[in-house]
Amino acid sequence: MRVVITGGAGFIGSHLVDHYLNCGHELIVIDSLITGREENIKTHLNSSALQFLNMDVCNVSDVEGKVDLILHFASPASPFDYLKYPIETMKTASFGTYNMLELARKKNAKILLASTSEVYGDPEVHPQKEDYWGNVNPIGPRSVYDEGKRFAEAMTISYHRKFGIKTNIVRIFNTYGERMRSGDGRVIPTFITEALKNKPLPIFGDGKQTRSFCYISDMVQGIMRMAQIDYAMPVNLGNPLEYTVLELADIVKQLCSSTSTLEFLSLPENDPRKRKPDIRRAKELLGWEPQVELKQGLKKVIDWFRSKND
Ligand SMILES: NC(=O)c1ccc[n+]([C@@H]2O[C@H](COP(=O)([O-])OP(=O)(O)OC[C@H]3O[C@@H](n4cnc5c(N)ncnc54)[C@H](O)[C@@H]3O)[C@@H](O)[C@H]2O)c1
Repeated sequence: MRVVITGGAGFIGSHLVDHYLNCGHELIVIDSLITGREENIKTHLNSSALQFLNMDVCNVSDVEGKVDLILHFASPASPFDYLKYPIETMKTASFGTYNMLELARKKNAKILLASTSEVYGDPEVHPQKEDYWGNVNPIGPRSVYDEGKRFAEAMTISYHRKFGIKTNIVRIFNTYGERMRSGDGRVIPTFITEALKNKPLPIFGDGKQTRSFCYISDMVQGIMRMAQIDYAMPVNLGNPLEYTVLELADIVKQLCSSTSTLEFLSLPENDPRKRKPDIRRAKELLGWEPQVELKQGLKKVIDWFRSKND
């Protein structure tokens, strides 16, 4: 296949690049590097199977040659990033998604949209099933991302309904792994970076809010399987095992043999109290569920962060 991966120099995108190249596909990676790094795909930059377009998806209306599949992952994704780039985030979700849907229509290609558990907002239903419509503050600080992705989902399903193009929507829950940026503000890279330096781990609120964490290899498997089926409704991908932020801090400290203390900070506005995917749909449709236990995945990521600091 000839596959376009937007956001392919980012954390999840670059692992998809590895995977699809290993499977023998030809790739066009589109990335503006607003939050990604060329280094993430540097081992492939000389490969004749990969073409890298350092461009904003908002400005890409066509690519040369045939396209079979578009994996649309471009978007700032961490709260630090989308609060720093609010307008860019909304433009990427709207103009960028429109451009990729038009490209799919023109090339008769399939498109998979990377959506997010954030479309559920601060959920009143637990765990979150795909038929839950969410509880999002449309003018809250996180709305640039949440509403952006909700709009992207609405546009994707509309292209499916109006033009009959093949579309997938995956709602990704917290994913972690190698190549996350230490300064991106997400809890796992932040805890690991601080724990390795024996510095205090920042805990927002009382730390009793829960999160679930999916290791990157499981996520790549889920995405790849999703891209192989014709199913246009959203599918949750994530790990249903729930941990409080305090529990996570303890595990990271242990695995890093760290003497870090905890530093309690005020809770950001509209921070969700709970997040846990109901993954029954993914299990049924894809025969997929996460395989990597939290400690097992964290050990790999800690080793990776250690190797970066050496
Ligand atoms: N990591 C997670 O836990 C998670 C959870 C839910 C959803 N997602 C979604 O998965 C996707 C990837 O997230 P990530 O964690 O890898 O984030 P990331 O920031 O590491 O990767 C995003 C990539 O998109 C690129 N990008 C952003 N705007 C662009 C634009 N307008 N044009 C071209 N490139 C652009 C960035 O430079 C970066 O390389 C995002 O769409 C995100 O919403 C991720």
